[in-house]
Amino acid sequence: MSEIKIPIPTHPGNFWVFRHFEEVDSTNRVVSDLARSGLPEGQVVLADHQSAGRGRLDRIWIDTPGSSVLMSVLLRPKFPAEFFFLITSSLSLAASQVLESKFSIPSKLKWPNDVMVGDNKIAGVLAEATFDSEGAPRVVIGIGLNCLQSQSELSGLGRGATSIYAETGITLDLNGRISLATDIISRFSELYLSLGDPANRIEVASLYKRACETIGLLVRVEMVGETLVGVASDISADGNLLVEADSRVRTVAAGDVIHMRKTS
Ligand code: BTN
Repeated sequence: MSEIKIPIPTHPGNFWVFRHFEEVDSTNRVVSDLARSGLPEGQVVLADHQSAGRGRLDRIWIDTPGSSVLMSVLLRPKFPAEFFFLITSSLSLAASQVLESKFSIPSKLKWPNDVMVGDNKIAGVLAEATFDSEGAPRVVIGIGLNCLQSQSELSGLGRGATSIYAETGITLDLNGRISLATDIISRFSELYLSLGDPANRIEVASLYKRACETIGLLVRVEMVGETLVGVASDISADGNLLVEADSRVRTVAAGDVIHMRKTS
């Protein structure tokens, strides 16, 4: 395990503390342990491989060793829980913006937090919130970003997926992946640390909406025990997807969204 400290420019004397491992079961699981041991916000765990990576909706997240950025962060947010969805928005926005600035890869977000290049997913974000013994919230947020997967590996993943290599031909070595991870955390840091201020929360929500290509599309939403087809009309103030179906607006808190076609 190696450790790197990245200073937080807006908070002099504070750091993001990166721990890099060759293999863990899940970086979210490792960070949850760090949270339980009482460590402060700002712990980051990066791994070359996860043997039991977790995805949304209780799925597994599969990786080939050394081919992805697999990273989780410990946060202890001080703002109200109804805005915690903006934490995941901030991480997916940060990843999307860094893909554009560093590799000229244009990406959009699919609700809730998939980073997409065209119809293919390049990164996914998973946040897990718990409370400590005093009732204070702690959030573990993780991202899996495909870097080196070839077309044949990507087709083996089943759903439409892509990678930095598939988009650009660029092969990132370990230092390249660590540098990408620290760039994402630097941008995430700016967005996340601004969320204490209500005006900034409005700003981040609007950045997210602009980047989220789901809004305005005809979608199929697969939820537990129900499939809904309708037009995704908006995102609610607490991060849910609003879908107009059968002349009603339905609020979707969790589910698998499939983009069907543009409505205009
Ligand atoms: C999704 O289903 O799209 C979310 C995938 C999140 C995967 C990342 S990889 C790093 C972190 N550790 C995990 O076990 N999961 C997240």
